[in-house]
Amino acid sequence: ANFIALIPAAGTGSRIGEAVPKQYLSLVGKPMIYHALHALYHTVRITRIGVVLAPDDADWERYDWSRFDDKLMVMRCGGATRAESVTNGLRSLRVSGSIHDQDWILVHDAARPGLSVTLIERLLDQLAEDEVGGLLAIPLADTLKRANSDNRVARTEPRERLWQAQTPQMFRAALLLNALQNAPEGITDDASAVEATGRLPRLVMGDAYNFKVTYPQDMALAALVLQEK
Ligand code: C5P
Repeated sequence: ANFIALIPAAGTGSRIGEAVPKQYLSLVGKPMIYHALHALYHTVRITRIGVVLAPDDADWERYDWSRFDDKLMVMRCGGATRAESVTNGLRSLRVSGSIHDQDWILVHDAARPGLSVTLIERLLDQLAEDEVGGLLAIPLADTLKRANSDNRVARTEPRERLWQAQTPQMFRAALLLNALQNAPEGITDDASAVEATGRLPRLVMGDAYNFKVTYPQDMALAALVLQEK
């Protein structure tokens, strides 16, 4: 089986409040998506990287991606939700003969620029022989409060065994595509689709640097993380 990365990058990034879609905001002189692409590209076992853009994306071609050419496949088939973008990307890779049913797919958010080769290799090492697949995640650090409709604390949720899901999330191509095609509405990651089929994805220890850039203040933090690298 081959290891193939898929980056859904067809979001608008509405919560970050910029005119440019989030994946193109500049971080240490490069568009955000460059950083995750770089880590995936420099992971030797990953032989192909699919990037899913919105059909009307006007930003991708403003940059030079030629250094990634030998692994990169750009697809303008993004959908209305992340799940749709991933589904369309998988279909497109399959139609072009770029993936086979038993290949491992690593789906990674363009908005997680702090991904490192070390983390990707940990995921590959721990899941390559797994029956189901799984995802990077970190144990929750904060105490969790459940609010009532009035924003008062209805109760404190036990934090034990709660993890924050990250990406990459890694599953076999056929299993993932089938799960996504039958997934309930409103899922926000790939593992949820697989869970809905009754399978139990494995949690692999991620790290805090691999956080998702969502709000404006996340940009300064991401820049710091990338400067350190
Ligand atoms: O918006 P959010 O941060 O949850 O998006 C996570 C990832 O999914 C981002 O890389 C974003 O570009 C991608 N996405 C997508 N298609 C959508 C919505 C989000 O590819 N319709």
